[in-house]
Amino acid sequence: MNLKRLELVHFRNYHKSSYRFEPACIHCFYGNNAQGKTNLIEAIYFLSHLRSFRTSHIDSLTMHQKEWMSLSALIESHGHDEQLKIVVSQKKKHLFVYQDPVRRYSDFIGKLNAILFCPDDMLLFQQSPRSRRRFIDMELMKLSHTYTATLSHFQSLLKQRNRLLKQDDLDDLLLHTLTEQMIQDEMVIISQRAKFVKEWMDQSRLLYPFFSEQKEKIDATYQTFVEWDHLQENLKMAYEKSFEKDKQYRQTTYGIHKDDIVFLLNGRPIHEVGSQGQKRSFLLAMKLGLAQIIYEKTKQYPILLLDDVFSELDPRRQKQLIQHLPRSMQVFITSTEPIDKQWFQDRSVRFYHIEDGSLREV
Ligand SMILES: Nc1ncnc2c1ncn2[C@@H]1O[C@H](COP(=O)(O)OP(=O)(O)OP(=O)(O)O)[C@@H](O)[C@H]1O
Ligand SMILES: [Mg+2]
Repeated sequence: MNLKRLELVHFRNYHKSSYRFEPACIHCFYGNNAQGKTNLIEAIYFLSHLRSFRTSHIDSLTMHQKEWMSLSALIESHGHDEQLKIVVSQKKKHLFVYQDPVRRYSDFIGKLNAILFCPDDMLLFQQSPRSRRRFIDMELMKLSHTYTATLSHFQSLLKQRNRLLKQDDLDDLLLHTLTEQMIQDEMVIISQRAKFVKEWMDQSRLLYPFFSEQKEKIDATYQTFVEWDHLQENLKMAYEKSFEKDKQYRQTTYGIHKDDIVFLLNGRPIHEVGSQGQKRSFLLAMKLGLAQIIYEKTKQYPILLLDDVFSELDPRRQKQLIQHLPRSMQVFITSTEPIDKQWFQDRSVRFYHIEDGSLREV
């Protein structure tokens, strides 16, 4: 997959800019602090995920004093071009593929498939389970329509169930029916999440030694609220057991909306035992491992966005990272220092300088 053209209008500190990018090429952006490097990465990420990785306030993406912003992209996927556009006005997103409006977010997310690696990713290990679930869900949503549909069906059932539990004269039969339907969805979601985590770790494990001097073993486990064997019966039993508690607390106390992924270093949770360097190596392996899974499932690499990560890597890791970037993958790298050209050897690479919301090839 490639981003061939990007147009930003009133996006953060970009007034109106249009840039062309060569496919399967590494694009390096450097510039001083606060010039618009992360903003550019954020724009590409937003086109991919329909949300920012650094704010949940959508209005902060629009340039100060302006009423709206838009992002347009010409992407190439499996040899075909597609034109995507997002207009944000009054906190609402309006989506278009070519000129046609797209109503459902799920029909737009992942059309541009991008993976981000940024310094804040280190927080993934210590943040709440919710952010880890969201990470997995986002990736699965980009890969599978069935997953997206099942997850959104489950979420609406969960809302209904919680609403019902808040009523004084509880309809037991309706509660039972909703629970039965939730269990069906949960079986699909649990098995897809677990399968995805396993495949992801199988790939990441192969890459980890390139980024770490030590010989640690990395792994991750998907933790759900019941035992795996006889999943359906166990889910039923768990809901029957929690029935009284749910009524008392007036909400659904168990379910996949509480699940977690635990990342392990030599069998122990990495957030408890890992050094900064080990966490960074783990993340590098995870991000490239993810790119590999996406390649195997979709037969093309996603776009890789590396925001400000070079400065945090020692020269050995920088070199290893570049050497392990698949040749057909388009990559966008930002840094405050120009990156040494020698690292790239015979890779196709372009360098740009970013200043005050504008970029210039150098
Ligand atoms: N909504 C907005 N309207 C106008 N300017 C904005 C808006 N949001 C952010 N900015 C400006 O964008 C700049 C920050 O851009 P960005 O985060 O991309 O910096 P950067 O080049 O990545 O810097 P660093 O090297 O420090 O990470 C700041 O000057 C900030 O004032
Ligand atoms: Mg930045």
